[in-house]
Amino acid sequence: MPAAGRAAFTGIYDRVMALTMREGVWRPALTHAVLESLKDGGVIVDLGCGTGTQSLALVRERPDLQIIGIDGDPDAIAIAARKPGAEMLDLRLGDARAVELPDGSVDRMLLVLVLHHLSGEGKRTVLSEAKRCLRADGQLHIVDWGSPADPLSSAGFLALQLLDGSSGTQDHRTGRWHELLAAVGLGEVQIEQRVRTPFGWLEQLWVSGS
Ligand SMILES: C[S@@+](CC[C@H](N)C(=O)[O-])C[C@H]1O[C@@H](n2cnc3c(N)ncnc32)[C@H](O)[C@@H]1O
Repeated sequence: MPAAGRAAFTGIYDRVMALTMREGVWRPALTHAVLESLKDGGVIVDLGCGTGTQSLALVRERPDLQIIGIDGDPDAIAIAARKPGAEMLDLRLGDARAVELPDGSVDRMLLVLVLHHLSGEGKRTVLSEAKRCLRADGQLHIVDWGSPADPLSSAGFLALQLLDGSSGTQDHRTGRWHELLAAVGLGEVQIEQRVRTPFGWLEQLWVSGS
């Protein structure tokens, strides 16, 4: 599933995000949460990095880190690679369901707006891959849709479901996707932030690797 729901929209993904998704509220908070307490020379993987916005925010703060951005869409990776600062990133075309990294090799893993694109089985596989790649003391940071809590956010989320389809998004409407975190053996879960957007509530979760 391309970044903006349709391949033709990948080129306008960044502008749509900037206009509608209140990135100025949650991206800096996410950057801070990911980098807090990360030692020198750590490894971060931005799984489903899309056009590279979050990876670039991280590397601008901490150019000493190895930041690997992986995405299955060559158009999104090409856009990321053209952005200023991209030369400091390790951008790779790849499938989040079969990450080509050794077990226990990653300090911080990010899944930003990726899980709602995946079916239940896809979500489970990607979360298992995240757990496998993380060190025992590593952390997974997820930003994705929470359950809409009121009629207005429910209507906004319906518009998103029309764009992105219901197979991946329905578990977010019900909130059931949270159950998968424990099911794949990930540890403590904390909801760090909830942000209202025109499409519903975005949740930022912190999950310990074991
Ligand atoms: C809504 S975009 C989010 C992009 C980015 N994480 C951000 O912060 O803006 C979702 C991205 O997930 C990628 N994606 C979806 N399924 C994937 C998979 N199985 N493997 C790799 N990337 C995937 C899509 O190509 C798309 O770029």
